[in-house]
Amino acid sequence: MCGIVGAVAQRNVVPILLEGLRRLEYRGYDSAGLVVVNGGLQRVRSIGRVASLTEATSAQKTHGHLGIAHTRWATHGAPTEHNAHPHVSRDDIAVVHNGIIENHEALRARLRELGYVFTSETDTEVIVHLIHHHFHHAEHDLLAAVQLAVAELHGAYAIGVVAQDAPHRLVCARRGSPLLIGLGIEENFIASDVSALLPVTQKIIYLEEGDVADIGLLTVQIYDASGARVERASHVSEQSSEMAELGNYRHFMQKEIHEQPRALADTLHDAVIGDSLLPELFGFDAAEVFAHVNAVTILACGTSFHAGSVASYWLESLAGIPCRAEIASEYRYRDSVPNPNALVITLSQSGETADTLAALNHAKSLGHHYTLSICNVPESALVRQSRLRFLTRAGPEIGVASTKAFTTQLAALFLLTLLLAKQRGRLDAATEARHIQSLRELPGKVAQVLALEAEVERWAERFANKQHALFLGRGMHYPIALEGALKLKEISYIHAEAYPAGELKHGPLALVDKDMPVVTVAPNDTLLEKLKSNLQEVRARGGELYVFADADSHISASEGVHVIQLAEHAGPLSPILHTIPLQMLSYHAALQKGTDVDKPRNLAKSVTVE
Ligand code: M6R
Repeated sequence: MCGIVGAVAQRNVVPILLEGLRRLEYRGYDSAGLVVVNGGLQRVRSIGRVASLTEATSAQKTHGHLGIAHTRWATHGAPTEHNAHPHVSRDDIAVVHNGIIENHEALRARLRELGYVFTSETDTEVIVHLIHHHFHHAEHDLLAAVQLAVAELHGAYAIGVVAQDAPHRLVCARRGSPLLIGLGIEENFIASDVSALLPVTQKIIYLEEGDVADIGLLTVQIYDASGARVERASHVSEQSSEMAELGNYRHFMQKEIHEQPRALADTLHDAVIGDSLLPELFGFDAAEVFAHVNAVTILACGTSFHAGSVASYWLESLAGIPCRAEIASEYRYRDSVPNPNALVITLSQSGETADTLAALNHAKSLGHHYTLSICNVPESALVRQSRLRFLTRAGPEIGVASTKAFTTQLAALFLLTLLLAKQRGRLDAATEARHIQSLRELPGKVAQVLALEAEVERWAERFANKQHALFLGRGMHYPIALEGALKLKEISYIHAEAYPAGELKHGPLALVDKDMPVVTVAPNDTLLEKLKSNLQEVRARGGELYVFADADSHISASEGVHVIQLAEHAGPLSPILHTIPLQMLSYHAALQKGTDVDKPRNLAKSVTVE
């Protein structure tokens, strides 16, 4: 989704802006642009990749000590050059913007009456003209103009603003969209995501809702929504510049799939040291919260929602606590019955997903005060806004298709299940020690599944020319089937649907013929015999089965039944192992089809707008 970088320095900022944009590319975008202040405003914009913008800036010898830059993921208006940011008002003021301005039509009408001419279809253009209008009524004070303008905006924004009359001044503001300040030595920066600034600084200030900041070479002054001067703490980011490099891998998705043993080991490190789990893994007052909760509500989107769905099976069966996993974008708008003793868990790789953040705020507004976020980005808004937190240690996930974030979320949710089971008297010490031992062995078991890649790749060759695929699972493996289908469709563009296998005969069986591959997750659990009957139903209609089976499931290959065997059944951790071959299947199917694996069309990594 859209990304912002800005810099004020004594050196040429263009390389800093371009490198920052390059590091934000993974978020998804369709045009890019920058403005530097160098006498007047020099603007360069291009459709497509940051590489095109880089070529254009070197052709135009763009140079300056103050600048703002942007990658745009189109919402209002097509991905064209005239809609790309920065937007400029009367050659005086330039703005980059993330978010959506809801009252843009009313503002546009008013600004037109004031004589402003609009050159784009974006909601952002109203911001730059509004600031321009106030700038000329506020004695050319850029800070005052931005404060007056943002007071009129409804919706979400993170903005960076420069003016040709203020060649050493970068003003920024945020509400509803993330924005941070990077502190350098006699130079300062802004960005929507810390990864953009890692080559120049790790020292970060996170702006809060409604903040406006006035940034110079040597000074950073922050004002809250009421206009009062405030101090915000600075942090040293835990992320490093090298973590987001591709290394010897062809794609980030491939790298991230193969990083899972390490990611799981790091995520579980503090938990598996002894034979007993401590609630403090989830925050210093987690014991107190766990003692009070009598239900769990999990809110998340996409892949994170699938992790929550698996956890709902664990929490009800192992901890005996009622649990509901819900899609965040639905929860935030429906009338629900709040239970003040429910633990509200938000799950997110990025911690920035607008729908998940809004769902958390909605839950709080309903009186929920037991909140927990399980997240992969330590400094994210979701983590900062939750009472309890668990940080997965997957490391930066760059590929749009979520892989290692999913399996580490599952590991965290399994720890939570064990702690709630213990709290509720449903876990004796010996069983707890056994589960912890299984968690210690998990990274090694994942590595064994990864070793099946060559076999999975051969299957993928057959998928490349398919139009559709069906994924089946039962019980806690049904969400794994959903996740497999999501992976396949988002990166290979093959239409895929997932069903609980018992549901086949209630409709989807009508789709089955020899051209419909049916991918099935077949663990040796209590539902195996039922699943085998469902597979017979598919074979009887000529459907071709691709089965990932536990060794002790005793499903063997036959005509129309292809089988890849995993190790013996892994008990409740089985969903984590069964998801790995589905990730590899979609990766290799996408490779066969030649799609842009890490940046699939129309998608963004962090969905920071509604
Ligand atoms: O950062 P989040 O976990 O909150 O993101 C949620 C979804 O946007 C994300 O999981 C999405 O579905 C992925 N592209 C799936 O691979």
